[in-house]
Amino acid sequence: MDSIKDMSAPLIVVSNRLPFVLNRKENGQLERKQSAGGLVTAVAPVVIECKGLWIGWSGLHDLEPGTLIPEAAPNDKAPTSGLLSSQIVPVHVDQKEFEAYYNGCCNGTFWPLFHSMPDRAVFKADTWKAYLRVNEKFARCTIAALRKICAELDAEGKENVAPVIWIHDYQLFTVATSVRQAVEEENLRCKLGFFLHIPFPSWDIMRLFPWDDEILQGILACDFVGFHISDYCLNFIDCCCRRLGCRIDRNNMLVELAGRTVHVKPLPIGIPFDRFVRLAETAPVFIKDTDKVKVILGVDRLDYTKGLVHRILAFEKLLEKHPEYIELVTLLQIAVPSRTNVREYKQLKEEMDQLIGRINGKFSRPNWSPIRYIYGCLSQEQLAALYRDSAIALVTPLRDGMNLVAKEYVACQIKEPGVLILSPFAGAGEMMHEALLVNPYEINDAADVLHRALQMPLEERELRMTQLRNREQLLNVNYWMNSFLSSMGALVEDEERDPLT
Ligand code: G6P
Repeated sequence: MDSIKDMSAPLIVVSNRLPFVLNRKENGQLERKQSAGGLVTAVAPVVIECKGLWIGWSGLHDLEPGTLIPEAAPNDKAPTSGLLSSQIVPVHVDQKEFEAYYNGCCNGTFWPLFHSMPDRAVFKADTWKAYLRVNEKFARCTIAALRKICAELDAEGKENVAPVIWIHDYQLFTVATSVRQAVEEENLRCKLGFFLHIPFPSWDIMRLFPWDDEILQGILACDFVGFHISDYCLNFIDCCCRRLGCRIDRNNMLVELAGRTVHVKPLPIGIPFDRFVRLAETAPVFIKDTDKVKVILGVDRLDYTKGLVHRILAFEKLLEKHPEYIELVTLLQIAVPSRTNVREYKQLKEEMDQLIGRINGKFSRPNWSPIRYIYGCLSQEQLAALYRDSAIALVTPLRDGMNLVAKEYVACQIKEPGVLILSPFAGAGEMMHEALLVNPYEINDAADVLHRALQMPLEERELRMTQLRNREQLLNVNYWMNSFLSSMGALVEDEERDPLT
């Protein structure tokens, strides 16, 4: 199921961010800056093909409602370049509202809570209200788009075709509530789907949020709900049962609310595997001395869920326990700046700077430093070269919905294979069995696993990497997208049956 399948109805994607960033040039003109993420690469061609729509925040606060989104530049080769401006619906959120919605509620409350770190979460009624208001804006845009598409289908005599609405992630939990209400009141028609890209926590954690019922009801306003792994599905179903008193069927992953049955399914997201292979085949070398020094690679957004501090302490422990690695091994950590206006992220940045400074001061030699640290963004090509040329990828989040770095690393292992070290607390840990799994909180153990990886014989590395690569090639991002849409009965080949029954 690698290729893109035909949709049986137009698709409306709703996500916090549009599939590209809008940038204002010095002369005031708007231009598109492309995003290279796997989700966008997979989903944009489907929206283009079925003449669907993408609804999202433009990235600019001062965009006047009604402003025309520019078409892609003629030399734009990105997968989104075929998205016409008429297929883009920008949602306008002013700076103040955005601050409360995005920095406050999305990233100050939901991000830590859903990653089971409630001590970091801030619960505030006013940021929650801003969240509801912004979700309502997204819902209004979605309903307007749905009305228009339904009218167009009617005019073409396609009264039986129900447009598909696919809502993404924790920024938009309550959008479906208003969409469902409008659909019922105005006799519109659609299939509503939701996918959560982060973990769904247990009832113990979820119940800490004072307005958890509204989140659950928002998700349950959909017909179909996808999570990365079955643990998250079961957590969600459990919350629906305990908080809302819903009838549930754990075995078949069904939840009943107000006479409607909602289908829940684990759908682990993949990556554009072949694209990473191609990049790895052609990308020029990025780190020059890999023949002399073995590189242990970390690539993450600078986020406290990623376990960066624990990881660096584990590397320090390795050098303490095995000084023979001095001048032979280096930890290369790429930290991509993220959510820099949120206090927790600012603090982490400072903590990292200090920690790395201390360890480098302790172990460095005139021509070698134990840790190389890049705080910034690299191109996909540079990343592919790093993945390809690193002996070890250290992917040790404390909690992570899936983690695509683990998958990108194995895709790029086209030469002598390295070793993937993975945390069981990432969704990826559920299926990438041939990785070396390590509990990131166990610093001493993590150092031992690093040692084991550095010593692993070629034959074992080959065996593990071949299995890992085969699986990721098969279960790539197109497979994930087709599975989601097929589960909703949204593909042409599903027309014979109704997958939701
Ligand atoms: C995670 C979330 C996404 C989010 C991304 C980057 O992967 O699941 O929804 O877009 O992080 O975070 P940002 O806050 O910059 O959008």
